[in-house]
Amino acid sequence: MVRQNSHGCGLRENGKAVHESQRDCLSQPGVLVCSDNIRYMEHLPDGMFKLIVTSPPYNLGKSYEHRSNLDDYLSMQERAIRECVRLLHDHGSICWQVGNYVENGAIVPIDTLLYPLFRAQDLKLRNRIVWHFGHGLHCKNRLSGRYETINWWTKGDDYTWNLDPIRVPAKYPNKRHFKGPNLGKLSGNPKGKNPSDVWEFPNVKSNHPEKTIHPCQFPVELVERLVLSLTDEGDCVLDPYMGVGSAVIAAIRHNRRGYGCEIVPEYVEIAQARLEALEAGTLRTRPMGKPIYDPGLPKGGH
Ligand SMILES: C[S@@+](CC[C@H](N)C(=O)[O-])C[C@H]1O[C@@H](n2cnc3c(N)ncnc32)[C@H](O)[C@@H]1O
Repeated sequence: MVRQNSHGCGLRENGKAVHESQRDCLSQPGVLVCSDNIRYMEHLPDGMFKLIVTSPPYNLGKSYEHRSNLDDYLSMQERAIRECVRLLHDHGSICWQVGNYVENGAIVPIDTLLYPLFRAQDLKLRNRIVWHFGHGLHCKNRLSGRYETINWWTKGDDYTWNLDPIRVPAKYPNKRHFKGPNLGKLSGNPKGKNPSDVWEFPNVKSNHPEKTIHPCQFPVELVERLVLSLTDEGDCVLDPYMGVGSAVIAAIRHNRRGYGCEIVPEYVEIAQARLEALEAGTLRTRPMGKPIYDPGLPKGGH
């Protein structure tokens, strides 16, 4: 594992300094960098990443962010997006996971603000995935928010896309064609069905096995689905707003190379500890495919 200090220089590997130009020769599957992401990304080569998956700050004034005016926020996002597009492989994907910005009780869906920024870079939106989760703030004057979106963009029409590893069990696996040349044959794919563009994963709240001190972690299983479908083994995956390293964990777990950049040193320390636990086989994550807790079933269906 390799970490970089907050000045964007002086890579270290097992305590030894490693020269910047050697970065791509390193064989470790995980690279954790403590730096401002623009400073880090501008030193990386064009087209390096097959997948850039991230959840940027929402400008809500969380502990790790400064609430700025909307124009400043968007111009920072524009810089980060432009740099990510440069780093994106021609067959690659960017997945930008966002929710709502809230101003005087009115919601602004951040993806609607960012849409023109991605289009200005000539990217194509493949899916606007709705991530539904069960827990969050209880609102008094509007409905409680229970989804966010993952906007999946590609650079071109020829992009890496593997559906089989992310198929989910069909609702009616024994359903058969009732007419036509396939009469009587199974109508669905025996490997399972396309998971659709509405995904349900528990968000990482206090009783989730992945919970750390970070206020807004990705569930690892969500990123695993993106890693498996949008990259091949050996590809490089970047999270420029890494937090505690959930995307890097998902990448390494599936034999991809994970790169993460985070500005808060404490989060980088936690990400490092999580990668060490992953390596040691002791990291607890919610397994892919585990059913959602259902209070109507014995033991919640688990
Ligand atoms: C929504 S959180 C992402 C959490 C992450 N998905 C995880 O699973 O832990 C956004 C993160 O971006 C970091 N951040 C904000 N501005 C940054 C910048 N300019 N460069 C790098 N990281 C930044 C914040 O400290 C925060 O941890």
